[in-house]
Amino acid sequence: MNDSAKLNIAQLNKKDEFYTQYDDIEKELVYYKSFFKNKVVYCNCDKYTESNFVKFFIDHFKDYGIKKLISSNYVPELNLLNSVNEYTPAYMYEYYGDEKYSINTLSNGDFRSEECIKLLEQADVVVTNPPFSLFREFIAMMFRYKKKFLIIGNVNAISYKETFLHILSGEMWLGQSIHSGDREFRVPKDYPLEANGTRIDADGNKYIRVKGVRWFTNIDCECGYRRLSLTERYTPERYPKFDNIDAINVSKTKDIPYNYKGIMGVPITFLDWYHPDQFQLIGNEYSLKINGGRGYINGRRMYGRIFIKRNSNDFLINKNYSMVDMFDLQN
Ligand SMILES: C[S@@+](CC[C@H](N)C(=O)[O-])C[C@H]1O[C@@H](n2cnc3c(N)ncnc32)[C@H](O)[C@@H]1O
Repeated sequence: MNDSAKLNIAQLNKKDEFYTQYDDIEKELVYYKSFFKNKVVYCNCDKYTESNFVKFFIDHFKDYGIKKLISSNYVPELNLLNSVNEYTPAYMYEYYGDEKYSINTLSNGDFRSEECIKLLEQADVVVTNPPFSLFREFIAMMFRYKKKFLIIGNVNAISYKETFLHILSGEMWLGQSIHSGDREFRVPKDYPLEANGTRIDADGNKYIRVKGVRWFTNIDCECGYRRLSLTERYTPERYPKFDNIDAINVSKTKDIPYNYKGIMGVPITFLDWYHPDQFQLIGNEYSLKINGGRGYINGRRMYGRIFIKRNSNDFLINKNYSMVDMFDLQN
């Protein structure tokens, strides 16, 4: 992990108030439109007056055929009275379409609270950007209550053991619209803008760019399968073996060789491209119980890796193997 990614994670852990932009929500949601028909959608970390998730689902209530939208937001007990001593409760908001809605107060709107679990039980699908500091608990709750979900998080959450085990077993995967770069989030006006990649708009709204953002979901997308095209040739010099794992190291996903049939250690961002028709997920250092918790090459500790193998059927797709490639593949 580089220094600026570390900085961003530290910021995310310290401050939970990062508001997702409408544009980013729209770009992901288009992939699941028909799934939402007749569904009760719950945005459980979302104040109805602020959240672009709520705005998106109200705007698209009809064309997505949504049955009901519920949102709730969290107000820690200490913040129930704001700086000018006004009472600012947590709200539960329900939207039924045709501008019909109801608003009620909650005790604190914690997604783990009994009152929010009751709302969760009514829902078919949860869509939100949960607090990064509670990402593990959030995912665990989605599985405990057997909910469909589409949530934004940080790519490093892939390596959390609980998250990775769900990915390994094919119960969750990455979304479609974000595979690289950073994304801009609005932050509260009193948020100190210390990092690079921040801006203030003409209305005084503050924004910060966050690296390594990804969607995590268990909803099938309505898109075809993007097969990763492999162009690089395996040689033992270019792809050394790990000292402690029977696998070669591939430093970049785009460098996965087309003529290697054994196990390969690839960066975690490989999951942006993963499709079970093309590759098999073998595990990561945690699930494979790798000695020392990491792969080593010539005594040097490597970055966290995901171990994969190409499916044998996929070798048949590339018909342009040279004689040397054929030899490699047979051995
Ligand atoms: C990253 S922000 C995203 C806000 C909003 N979902 C959006 O995307 O614009 C995470 C939100 O979770 C809220 N939050 C923090 N702890 C929470 C909890 N225990 N239960 C529910 N929400 C919580 C924070 O107040 C914050 O608004």
